[in-house]
Amino acid sequence: MVLDIVKYLNNPILERPADPVTEFDTPELYKLVEDMFETMYAKRGVGLAAPQINVAKRVTVIDVSGRDEGEELAEGEEEDEPDQIVLINPVVISKQGKQTGEEGCLSIPGFREPVTRAMRVVVRAQDEKGEFFEIEGDELLARAMLHEIDHLNGVLFLSHLSSLKRELIKRKIRKLQQSGEWE
Ligand code: NI
Repeated sequence: MVLDIVKYLNNPILERPADPVTEFDTPELYKLVEDMFETMYAKRGVGLAAPQINVAKRVTVIDVSGRDEGEELAEGEEEDEPDQIVLINPVVISKQGKQTGEEGCLSIPGFREPVTRAMRVVVRAQDEKGEFFEIEGDELLARAMLHEIDHLNGVLFLSHLSSLKRELIKRKIRKLQQSGEWE
């Protein structure tokens, strides 16, 4: 099911730390992950965090493959294909190097800005069954994992911009809110 995405400034859930997942291997958790992938593909994102669909849980899904963006999974395609990454209760355990590139967010549509992040990260997380694993990523995958883990801590990419730039974007969004173009 494609869910509505919460937009920045419309709902404080985006700026609050999400709660750890404590129950695994439940139908609710599998459904949440499935809906998050569907929503992410429908909105042509490369990552989505649960607070963005108004669920305050430490769950994020990522797919940086660019394959069939906006489409549902092809018939016979397994949900656990390696380019579909599910991170539950993720923690960054190491970071290396730096990269700067344009970043956007499904909760802040229409705004893209250069953000500097680590070039390579190692993340420790749990899967839907509660099994711990480590995943290493660089370039776009590193950026996506860091962006999504930020979401779980109530942090948006705007926090990585200068305060001047951030205030300018906030002001533009407030104008869009007032004219009913930001719902
Ligand atoms: Ni985002």
